[in-house]
Amino acid sequence: MGDKNFRLPRNIWPRRYGLRIEADLEQWRYRGSVQVDVHVTEPTTRVYLHAADLVIERAQAFWGGTWHEAQKITRDEDAEAIALEFPAPLPSGSARLDLAFRGEILDRLRGFYRSEKDGRRYAATQFEAADARRAFPCFDEPEFKARFALTLVVPAGNVAISNGPEVSRREQPDGRVEFRFAETPPISSYLVAWCMGPFEPTPIAFTPTGVPVRVWLPRGMSAKGAYAQEAHVRSLAYLEEYTGIPYPYAKVDAIGVPDFEAGAMENPGAITYRLTLLAADPERAAIATRKGIFSTAAHELTHMWWGDLVTMAWWDDLWLNESFATFVGSKTTAELNPEWGFWRDFVAALQRPFQLDALVSTHPISFTVTNAKQATERFDVITYWKGAAVVRMIEHFLGPDAFRQGVRAYLQKYREANATADDFWSELSAASGQPVAQLATSWIRQPGHPVLVLRTSRSADGMTIEVEQTRFFADPERAASRTSERWDIPIVWKFGTASGIQEKRVLVSSESASVHLPGARWLYPNGGASGFYRFQLDAPALDALLPAIQTGLEAYERLNLLDNQFALMRAGRSSLTDYFRLLGGFSEETDRAVVSLLADHLGWLGLHVITDEFDSAFAQAVEKIFRPQWQALGWEARLGENDDDRLRRATVLAALGYLARAQDIRAQARERIERYWQDPTSLDPNLVSAVANVAALDGDAVLYARYLERKRQSSQDPEEEYRFLLALASFEQPELIQRTLDLALSDEVRAQDRPFLLGALLGRRKARPAAWKFVRAQWQTLSTLLDPMLLQNLIRALGQVTYEPAADEVCAFLTGHVREETRETTAQVCEQLRLDAATVRRLRAELPRTPLTLHP
Ligand code: BES
Ligand code: ZN
Repeated sequence: MGDKNFRLPRNIWPRRYGLRIEADLEQWRYRGSVQVDVHVTEPTTRVYLHAADLVIERAQAFWGGTWHEAQKITRDEDAEAIALEFPAPLPSGSARLDLAFRGEILDRLRGFYRSEKDGRRYAATQFEAADARRAFPCFDEPEFKARFALTLVVPAGNVAISNGPEVSRREQPDGRVEFRFAETPPISSYLVAWCMGPFEPTPIAFTPTGVPVRVWLPRGMSAKGAYAQEAHVRSLAYLEEYTGIPYPYAKVDAIGVPDFEAGAMENPGAITYRLTLLAADPERAAIATRKGIFSTAAHELTHMWWGDLVTMAWWDDLWLNESFATFVGSKTTAELNPEWGFWRDFVAALQRPFQLDALVSTHPISFTVTNAKQATERFDVITYWKGAAVVRMIEHFLGPDAFRQGVRAYLQKYREANATADDFWSELSAASGQPVAQLATSWIRQPGHPVLVLRTSRSADGMTIEVEQTRFFADPERAASRTSERWDIPIVWKFGTASGIQEKRVLVSSESASVHLPGARWLYPNGGASGFYRFQLDAPALDALLPAIQTGLEAYERLNLLDNQFALMRAGRSSLTDYFRLLGGFSEETDRAVVSLLADHLGWLGLHVITDEFDSAFAQAVEKIFRPQWQALGWEARLGENDDDRLRRATVLAALGYLARAQDIRAQARERIERYWQDPTSLDPNLVSAVANVAALDGDAVLYARYLERKRQSSQDPEEEYRFLLALASFEQPELIQRTLDLALSDEVRAQDRPFLLGALLGRRKARPAAWKFVRAQWQTLSTLLDPMLLQNLIRALGQVTYEPAADEVCAFLTGHVREETRETTAQVCEQLRLDAATVRRLRAELPRTPLTLHP
C-alpha cells in the first residue's frame, strides 16, 4: 500500500456481499455491516480491502469451521484501503469476511451522500469511479464482480430503493422500516446503489417483455415522471432487440436525486438522475427538455449491457463504456424519435471533441490510468464523443449488420464478466471478416485526428484528387510540423455528376494517396459526415462545391462542412473572409441544426472577436442573416408546425435579440415574458428560455426580482426553475451581474448548478470581467465546495476569458492552483486560451477588410 496507485492483490476474489445499512437522516450518520463470501486462490494472513473515511468497528473471518478475529487493522489513507491481519493464513478455497463499520452521510456529491429538497431529507449514493469505498469496505475495482444482497433500514416515512427488487418491507419495533432487496447478478462495486427518502413513484409500466419500469421523484413530483418512464420503456425494448440479450436485471427504477454531480448514473436496476434529466411537465416540457430526458435514459440503459453486463477490466478502457453508451444511446434516440432528426444533433455535438482533440494537450481515447483520481478526468468529450464518433465511423465502414453481429457476439461472450478493447475488436473482426483492430487502434491509441489536405485537378472525365493526411493542430505554428501519427481513414467521397450524386469509399492508410472521381463536377470528402477528420479543400474544389451545398448535401453534411470551415479559420488555415465566402452557400439555409450552428459561430465571434467599434456592423450582419427567417417564422407557432421550426424560431429569436441587439425583439420579449407569467399557455414552451434571456438583457432590478421569484416558485418544476436561474445571467446592469455572482455562492444555488451559472456569466461579454474577478477572489471557497467534475466544469468555463490581459492571468492562476484531478483540464484550458488569444488578434486584424455578408 502506501501510495495512491495501490491496486488490490489478485489472491482473494469476492463472490457475494451481504450488506446492511442503517441510516439516520436526522444526524446524517449510518451504521453498516458487510459479510463478503470470498474465494482465496493463494493462502494469506493479510486481507486488503478498500475503505475510506469509515470507522471499522469489527473485522473477522470465517474459515475451517470457526471465526477468526483480525488481530490488527491497518488503514492507509493514500491507498484508501485497509489491511486486516489474521493470526493464521486464510487457506485456499472459500471463506467469509465480516466487518462492522459506521460513517457519515457525506455533505458532498460522492459516496453515500445527503440531499435536501423543500425541507425534506434524502440520501443517495454515487460510486463511479471509486467511491464505493467511502460507503462500505469492499474490493473497489471493476474487475471484482460479485453478487450484492442489500438490507436498508430507514426512518419512518421514507422509502428505500436499490439495485435489486424489494423482497420485503418490515416495520421494526422502534418505528424504523427495514427494506430487503433481492440479490443482484454479478456486478462491479462502482455500480452498487441505494437511495432513500420521501421519494414517490409513478405507477409501474411494463416493457413488451414484461420488465417493470418506475420513475421516482421527490415528494409531490411523481406526475412529472411520465415522459421519462415512457422513454425508458421504449428504449429498453429497442435495446433488447438490438443486442439480442434480454434486459439482464429484474426491474428498472429511475430515481431523480435533488443534488447530483454528473447528469445520470447507470446503476443496474436503480439508475440515478439529476432532476432536470428526469422530470418534465407532461403538457408543457420543451422539445430540448424531452430530448435531454430521452437521450439520457437511452444512454444509461445502453450501459445495462455496455458497462454493467460486460464491464471494462480497468479504467483505461472506460471508453468501452462511455463511447458505446453515447453512440448506441444516440442510435436508440434517433430511431425512436424520427421527427427529431437526431443525427444532426450528434454531428453538432462533435464540435467539442474536435476542438479539444486539436490541442497538443489532448489524450488518446484509450490510455493508461494508474489511479482512481485520474479516472475522474477520463469522463470527458474525448472519451464520450470522439469515442462515439469513431465507433460510428467503424459502423459505417463495416455496415450496420456486420457491426451489430460483432456487438452481439462480444456481449454474449463476456456477459457477467470483464473485457478489453482487444476483445471487442476480435469479435468485430470475426463478424465482419475485416481486420478492424489495426484501423481502430490508429484512432483509439493515437492522440489527435487527421486533416486531409486536398489538391484537385479537373479533366474531361471528372476530377482527380491528391490527398495528404497530417495531424490537425489548432495551433497555426504547428500546422507545418510533421508528426508521426498516421490514421487508417475510411474516406467517403461524395460527388455530383451529370447523372446524379455518387459515392466512392476508399481506405487511406498512407501519408498520401490519389483518387479519381469519374464525371465529378463537385465533391465533398466526408459523405454521411461520419468521418472524424478535418479536410481542407483547395480553391477550385470549394468554388465547385458552393452552388451544390443546398441541393447536394444532407443537413448533417452541411453542418460538418460549416464546422470544418470554422475550425480551419480558427487554426489559421483559412481566413475570416473565406468563412463568410462559404456562408454564401448557406444563404438559403433553413435547417434548424445548421442555423443553430451558424448562430453558435456568430456567437463565438460576437463574444471574442467583435470590438465595440464593430458592434453595429456585426449587428447588421446578424440582422441580414436572421431577419428574413424571423419574418417567415413569426412569434406564433402555427398549428401542426413541426419540431424543427419551433426550435429554429427560438434560435433566430435569440440571435436577433442578443447578437443583433434588435430593439423590437427585446421590447416584445419583455412583454411576452410578462404575459407568460399571467398565462403560461400564451408562449410556446420552446421559446420560454430564449424570451427570458432576451428580456433580461435590458432588464432592471424589478424584473430581476421577478425572475428570482419565478425560480423560487418553481421548485417542483426543475425545467422552469433552471430556466429562470440561468436567465439571471443575462441581466447586463453591473449591480445585477454582481448579484448573480453572489447568488451563485449562496444557499439559493445548489453546488451542482454553480459551475453552470458562473459559466453562463463567463460567456457574456458584459459579465465576463466581473465574473473572472469573482471566481479568482472566491477560488478557495469554490474549490472546496465543488466536487471534482464540477470544478473541472468551472475551469473549462474560464476558457471563455480570452481578452487581454485576463487570458494570461487565468492561465497563470489556474496553473498555480492545480491539483491532481484538475491537472489535465488546466493544461487544456491554458493551451486553448493561448491559441484563442492569438486567433482573436488575427481575426480582429482581418475584420476591417472582411465583408460580413452571406453573399460572395
Ligand atoms: N457513467 C456516467 C456517470 C458518471 C460520470 C459517473 C462521471 C461518474 C463520473 C453516466 O453514464 C453518464 O455518462 N452520464 C452523463 C449523462 C449522459 C446524458 C451523457 C453525464 O453525467 O454527463
Ligand atoms: Zn455514460
